[in-house]
Amino acid sequence: MPGFELFDQKEIDALADVIKRKVVHRYSFQDVREGIYRVAEFEEAFAKRVGTKYALGVSNGSAALYVGLKALGIGPGDEVITSAFTFIASIEAILECGAIPVLADVDESLNLDPSSVESLITDRTKAIMPVHMFGAAADMDAFKEICDLHGLYLIEDACQAIGATYKGRGCGGLGVWGAYSLDPYKVITVGEGGMLFTNDEELYKKMEYYHDHGHIHDLNIDRGAEGKACLGFNFRMGELQGALGLAQLSKLDTVIEAQRNNKKKILDAIGEVEGISLRDLPDREGEIASHLILILPDASAAMRFKEACTEAGAGCSILSDNTWHYAKHWATLREGKYYSRVRCPFDCPYAEDMPLYRPIEWTQTEEILSRSVMFAIGVVMDDAKIEKIANAINAGIKAAL
Ligand SMILES: Cc1ncc(COP(=O)(O)O)c(C=O)c1O
Repeated sequence: MPGFELFDQKEIDALADVIKRKVVHRYSFQDVREGIYRVAEFEEAFAKRVGTKYALGVSNGSAALYVGLKALGIGPGDEVITSAFTFIASIEAILECGAIPVLADVDESLNLDPSSVESLITDRTKAIMPVHMFGAAADMDAFKEICDLHGLYLIEDACQAIGATYKGRGCGGLGVWGAYSLDPYKVITVGEGGMLFTNDEELYKKMEYYHDHGHIHDLNIDRGAEGKACLGFNFRMGELQGALGLAQLSKLDTVIEAQRNNKKKILDAIGEVEGISLRDLPDREGEIASHLILILPDASAAMRFKEACTEAGAGCSILSDNTWHYAKHWATLREGKYYSRVRCPFDCPYAEDMPLYRPIEWTQTEEILSRSVMFAIGVVMDDAKIEKIANAINAGIKAAL
């Protein structure tokens, strides 16, 4: 699962090199940095890998989503449709813009269901943001068609899908912009970091300015004397993360291949079982195999499965219990729990029809998640571990069916 499993001398050398040069800022320090810009190198290499013209390194995946939304001008009065099953950061990024997250159901891909989206579109909708959960692409062709029909931005929360592809194209490069997270749980990591991808030069410039207080980033001018393009904030990536990212990116194929092998070994050991299915993915070939999810016939079968698996020494989780990734559990969202006196968008005069976000809203999602069990797949998994998981799954299947 996480890229940190493969940290070795390469990462140590990359970081030591930055420390020795004593330049940790991605901009400025031109007179001492010997023309070395690690974040810029990381961006260029990552854009090439994903297949976009531009990439912008930022401080984390949440910031990537937020900067992307701000650069599109999304704000109070606007609505963004996304998934009820995603990390809460997807929703917080929209709220931070003062806009309204409208949460639709997932289907058995465990990604946003295209058929649950159209009825939620209003004249306030600005964008649809599918989330490629657990390293597998959402049905992007279907969303592209909907967005084109209604004149909406198609944007991707690809934070969990570094290196995943959809019909041969890199996730993160399929919409107006796409965002990756490089946090410690991801297939490659820089500790804390994020990356935004786009093919649109004007949008890229807006992201670049906004993420650094409006700086126009003219390397020929002293940073303190630069002009200002807009108001913004600081979501910069630093040179340590840039150097670490370059080292990790060179291992991305190794990580994905190892995960795919490990997952395949487990699946081979289980074989096909009637009554148990895998996610119904639009492009199974393109997934990065960071997780193994089995979909059982019903919620009580999933509970029996989990118990038997745990007894056999391999823990798994039922997805509907996931408190950080499923809107049903977000009382803070329901209550609009902010510290300010006026809470935008909750008290915003521009916000019409604020959703109630009640736990009962997403019946289809609940029905699917309550019978879905998940195992994390590691990069480094020896045969004994794989056998243990496979045996536990077989015990789980026996108890469930
Ligand atoms: C779907 C999704 N979106 C956004 C994020 C936020 O990324 P970060 O932790 O880098 O802020 C995550 C992180 O796990 C995520 O899974």
